[in-house]
Amino acid sequence: MAVVVSSGNAPAFKAKMTVYVFVCVVIAAFGGLIFGYDIGISGGVTAMDDFLKKFFPTVWEKKQHVHENNYCKYDNQFLQLFTSSLYLAALVASFLASAVCSKLGRKPTMQFASVFFLIGVGLTAGAVNIFMLIIGRILLGFGVGFGNQAVPLFLSEIAPAQLRGGLNIVFQLMVTIGIFIANLVNYFTATVHPNGWRIALGGAAVPAIILLFGSFIICETPTSLIERNKNEEGKEALRKIRGVEDINEEYESIVHACEIASQVKDPYRKLLKPASRPPFIIGMLLQLFQQFTGINAIMFYAPVLFQTVGFGSDAALLSAVITGVINVLSTFVGIYLVDRTGRRFLLLQSSVHMLICQLIIGIILAKDLGTTGSLGKPQALVVVIFVCVYVMGFAWSWGPLGWLIPSETFPLETRTAGFAVAVSCNMFFTFVIAQAFLSMLCGMRSGIFFFFSAWIIVMGLFAMFFVPETKGVAIDDMRERVWKPHWFWKRYMLAEDDDVEKRTE
Ligand code: BGC
Repeated sequence: MAVVVSSGNAPAFKAKMTVYVFVCVVIAAFGGLIFGYDIGISGGVTAMDDFLKKFFPTVWEKKQHVHENNYCKYDNQFLQLFTSSLYLAALVASFLASAVCSKLGRKPTMQFASVFFLIGVGLTAGAVNIFMLIIGRILLGFGVGFGNQAVPLFLSEIAPAQLRGGLNIVFQLMVTIGIFIANLVNYFTATVHPNGWRIALGGAAVPAIILLFGSFIICETPTSLIERNKNEEGKEALRKIRGVEDINEEYESIVHACEIASQVKDPYRKLLKPASRPPFIIGMLLQLFQQFTGINAIMFYAPVLFQTVGFGSDAALLSAVITGVINVLSTFVGIYLVDRTGRRFLLLQSSVHMLICQLIIGIILAKDLGTTGSLGKPQALVVVIFVCVYVMGFAWSWGPLGWLIPSETFPLETRTAGFAVAVSCNMFFTFVIAQAFLSMLCGMRSGIFFFFSAWIIVMGLFAMFFVPETKGVAIDDMRERVWKPHWFWKRYMLAEDDDVEKRTE
């Protein structure tokens, strides 16, 4: 398929969607699959008695005696911390990963990620004491930090601009597939005693091996090669991924971006300058908003709701299958629409869509669910339907766009640093929600759905006024095409070159 990459009066870059790019996209996106698998597997494993008895005997003891009600499920901060330690490690690792990404390239960063994953999987699945388990979790976190840093950037840089959104969302697609597989694995390994948890944790080795071997097949991005003065190799790589001979214009534009980037000594300092403010603020807030949609809370609560609706002991499996399949399939809708309707349409549409779902769920639970009583079947069915509709909206909008937009809006000189801040913010807010959700649910009850609704209103308004459209704009052309014409952000573009730090400074 031939596409001409053009943005208004910006140069049109010729490109084809080549098989090679497709292969690169799929392999790299395995990084997303491991991330999704990690998100999905922890909850299941920490609920397995064999696992608790071995590593958290006191937690297990207590669990036998707690009386749970509808909102106050068993809540143990220490056990939660075990789950969320991965996000803390990833938060720190993303900064290290950004340096590796700039100095050595996107491809080695992915290779590091897969090695961290493999050692982490070995240690957690083979753990004989808590120490091995924790070190393993930290290494998995490093894998996530390195993978989530390199993969979305890699995808955005190798994709032709016209298809960038869709190709980048393959990352989120793999995240959703990872969550889905993990939920199935949890369900089936829970009945395997006493080592089911080892199989569940060990499963992450499969995508890690695919990523490791696959990473030898994929190319380095032209931008990263040229940035490191390997111009000829960069040109060759560009020709190979674009599938056309005439790549000069795009090549020149990358060289130009690299020249500007080479004048910046300290990308983190540069990030604090006014000209970096638009992508920086948007990149950070999108992470806050993505997590405060309440998606991980909803996913967590889904099995309880499915049980209430009458699926009985199969509730966990059914909830995993139904929400998991909806999550995966709806991501395809995002892939299809993101380069057609654009990013803003998806963000705005889904804000209204998710708000309505959260409000309906909140109202029904507030009205009909006592603390220990249960919902009537019809009400529970409505709640379950709206949980599914809600997951749909997230899957084609705030889920993938939380990764796509920060990966495509920073100029080259702050791209890896800016994206590292975005990744670490995502990890931080995922940590906050993972850590606080159970206590919040217990304290706020159905109010938690109104809490997330309020956030959805805020993020919808933010998207409406402050998130510009980046569909079809070449990745190194955002400043001219996106920020300078924007009603609000243009004020930061006035002193455009004042803040370029010269090497000679
Ligand atoms: C988010 C995760 C979430 C997942 C759900 C991702 O984009 O970062 O926190 O669990 O989407 O599909």
